[in-house]
Amino acid sequence: MIGPSGCGKSTLLQIFNRMYDLTPGTRVMGSVRIGHEEITTTTRLQELRRRVGMVFQRANPFPMSIYDNVAYGPRLMGWSESRIESTVEESLAFTGLWDDVADRLHRSAHLLSGGQQQRLCIARCIAVTPEVILMDEPCSALDPISTLRVEELIKDLVQRYTIVIVTHNMQQARRLADYTAFMLIEPFHRYGSWSNSAPRQSSSQTLRTRAPPTTSAGGSAKRAAGGISRR
Ligand SMILES: Nc1ncnc2c1ncn2[C@@H]1O[C@H](COP(=O)(O)OP(=O)(O)O)[C@@H](O)[C@H]1O
Ligand SMILES: [Mg+2]
Repeated sequence: MIGPSGCGKSTLLQIFNRMYDLTPGTRVMGSVRIGHEEITTTTRLQELRRRVGMVFQRANPFPMSIYDNVAYGPRLMGWSESRIESTVEESLAFTGLWDDVADRLHRSAHLLSGGQQQRLCIARCIAVTPEVILMDEPCSALDPISTLRVEELIKDLVQRYTIVIVTHNMQQARRLADYTAFMLIEPFHRYGSWSNSAPRQSSSQTLRTRAPPTTSAGGSAKRAAGGISRR
């Protein structure tokens, strides 16, 4: 998702896992579904947040060890310690961190570099086997090399998970996205494949937010994001 600051991108992401519940006085209208589950009214919030993980702009490892960060969600879910142990190793290996941290798993996560902390947060997110991962400008606080490593990781993650990512970096959107949604403060979204969403293209892809198309194909988050269709 791309669009100017303040147009509501983060807020839209927060609808997908009900993070907006934490902001007093908010309300949501309309319907967002993942599969058959209506997100806006579900009472199974812990399960929703397992299914829809989130990675933020600033890496936010918990103030605990590297191991405990990744084990946090699995422990909440009551998994056995042996299952947790293998999950921690798999998740850290998938995010390319295992070789860097295998010998200091029980040291503070805050000792890692910014890029490593962001990959740790992604490892924490995938440890609980989500279906969708929300990423709110995940590279905007990172240097170019760490950004490329996280981008490479995102390319691996899309093989397994649906990812909804907000970015201000147009090249990043072009590199990573199968679909692009362009949000404005006005009640219009433009969306589609990259070429249809790029500025100065035909406005035939411009649709009212309250009248999402019904042509969505495949993954549930495509529906959640307003019926964005695959090329
Ligand atoms: N649909 C909406 N209705 C009312 N206020 C909104 C809506 N979407 C976003 N906002 C408000 O607009 C401000 C900016 O939203 P935010 O999601 O942070 O924008 P962005 O991430 O695109 O910079 C926030 O104060 C948010 O509460
Ligand atoms: Mg934002």
